[in-house]
Amino acid sequence: MKKKIVHNKSRFLVLLIVFSIFSIFGCTPDNNQSTFGTAGPIASSQANLFLLIFAIAVVVFIAVEAALIYISIKFRRKEGDKLPYQTHGNKKLEITWTIIPAVILIFVAIPTLIGIWSQQNGVPDDKGQVLNIEAVGHQWWFEFRYSDYEVITSNELHIPKGRPVSFKLSSQDVIHSFWVPKIAGKVDMVPLNDNYIWMIADEVGEFYGQCAEFCGTSHAHMRFRVFVHEEEDFLAWVDQMHTPADPPLPNTAESRGQMLFAANCSMCHTNNSTTPGSYIMEINTQDARWNNWIDDTENSALVSAPNLTHFGTHSTLGSGIKDLNHETLVEWIADPSSIKQGTRMQKQAMVYNTRDGKANLTDGEISDIATYLLSLKPGSGAELVIDDIPADGVIDAEAVFATNCAACHSLGNDVIVGPGMGGIKDRAADRVSGLSAYEYIYESIVEPQAYIVEGYPPVMPGWASLGDETVNALVEYLLTLE
Ligand code: CUA
Repeated sequence: MKKKIVHNKSRFLVLLIVFSIFSIFGCTPDNNQSTFGTAGPIASSQANLFLLIFAIAVVVFIAVEAALIYISIKFRRKEGDKLPYQTHGNKKLEITWTIIPAVILIFVAIPTLIGIWSQQNGVPDDKGQVLNIEAVGHQWWFEFRYSDYEVITSNELHIPKGRPVSFKLSSQDVIHSFWVPKIAGKVDMVPLNDNYIWMIADEVGEFYGQCAEFCGTSHAHMRFRVFVHEEEDFLAWVDQMHTPADPPLPNTAESRGQMLFAANCSMCHTNNSTTPGSYIMEINTQDARWNNWIDDTENSALVSAPNLTHFGTHSTLGSGIKDLNHETLVEWIADPSSIKQGTRMQKQAMVYNTRDGKANLTDGEISDIATYLLSLKPGSGAELVIDDIPADGVIDAEAVFATNCAACHSLGNDVIVGPGMGGIKDRAADRVSGLSAYEYIYESIVEPQAYIVEGYPPVMPGWASLGDETVNALVEYLLTLE
């Protein structure tokens, strides 16, 4: 029996040593989430502080252990030894071992406090033009709002090299934590309480970000990527984010995917935040989706969701879990839990309301949606004209609606941001006296602020840019909705 215990002990020891060695490998500077291979002044000042404290700890450790070993050997009990002389209290010794640690702690506290003060109070004035970003934590993804440039992204953050970036951190649900190990420290994202962090990246490249506060089932899978660019490349990226994607050609996988996306996904995912005004509209839309979910967390088919504008330029999927390509995207759409457990998408969206929780779509349909999403990239960059009428002169009003309106209006009775369009004909007929249903809908598209229905936020932009013919086709189409 005793033998067995000894055996287990040595096995445990071996396991412990192996585990420790693997843990140490996690610290190698090359590791994506190592805090040692730093790429910014804040991360490096924190790494240096750690190394200083570590060095002091090593010296203390060696001194204490050496003394312990020396004393254990030198004064070990020998044959014939009598009981040693008993003593109690020694002022000199006690003062010494109080003063030495106090001095060490003061020595450690000075650089620590200097570090905290220099990083806690926002970006110092001498660091250059600040880039402001609001980072919002969601279960389980990150939203990034560039208030200076009216750009919204999710899970992939782009910043310029050498410029200070100031983050306002918040959360829409539970407490998360924002952490880019190689560039800056971590700060919690707390609902209803804004926190701040700033960073400077001094190396161009791709870096890892990670939620660092346990926030539910997929906490470990709540990641993001940081792309650090030269200033001009960053500005080019901003430009691209304001360049709409080219509309898909008719009768292609992309165009079929677009319709399927409009019908099944666009209530929660905006994918065209490139136009002027779309920034504030998306923020309001996200809030509306969120409030909708809060009102009925069991049954709401609406939840706040990652903005998919130019999703085809992303390199990762599911907030940094997998490389993005057609195969992984199909896997994700078909059954999100095969990649990430507990997504609100799978729990709430109608299309996953099936016996096995998998998408209620055929393989072909899923493939088309994936093809469409991967095609979302900055277009030819031509001036934004949405009224490009097809060569055959027939306007596909359904597609126009899917592209431009479906993010805020459903085709049935569901309220997204604005009212659902089902049965609009009857309601429009007697909304404004003197206006027919046709005229009223037309006016509401071209100049919406004139006739906001009570209870809805006044956030709809005017769509005169669609062109007269397209708006007319849209009105005709809306009048057919039951
Ligand atoms: Cu969010 Cu952990």
